[in-house]
Amino acid sequence: MREKNTPRVAILMGSASDWESMKPAAETLEKLGVASDVKVISAHRTPERHHEYVSEAEARGIEVLICGAGFAAHLAGVTAALTPLPVLGVPLEGSALDGLDALLSTVQMPGGIPVATFGIGQAGAKNAGLFAAAILARSDSAVRERLDAYRREQTAAVPERPF
Ligand code: RP5
Repeated sequence: MREKNTPRVAILMGSASDWESMKPAAETLEKLGVASDVKVISAHRTPERHHEYVSEAEARGIEVLICGAGFAAHLAGVTAALTPLPVLGVPLEGSALDGLDALLSTVQMPGGIPVATFGIGQAGAKNAGLFAAAILARSDSAVRERLDAYRREQTAAVPERPF
């Protein structure tokens, strides 16, 4: 039996400087009542921390991993190489190429090791949070109900006119 506050989603990012971009993933999951574990883990700068965290993630109750990284952005790809759990990649802006480098790096996985890749930056992070909840909702009716309510509220908040 899972403890209520045991994180089910890991939110990893390559640097503390990624937090502003990745925050919407954590906020969205919190709104949906899904506990997440937020960590700075870099495929390049902390490879041992990365390997250890991802290899132990499933045994600790993690069901989905969201990985945000900028520049060469290998975090999501290497994470997917280390676990069979679903990995959602969020490319981040910040480099001279404004995230296009990270987008191509994250999305262009070789066949056999998939990463579900989202849009660049905060909108991508928010959608990755929603997508992680949608995965959990397939086997968790409470998450499903909260996700349905979120969508209903979002629809109700759209005005008929722009003025
Ligand atoms: C990437 O390099 C990180 O994900 C971050 O987006 C980028 C820059 O990191 P810092 O130099 O700001 O720590 O690995």
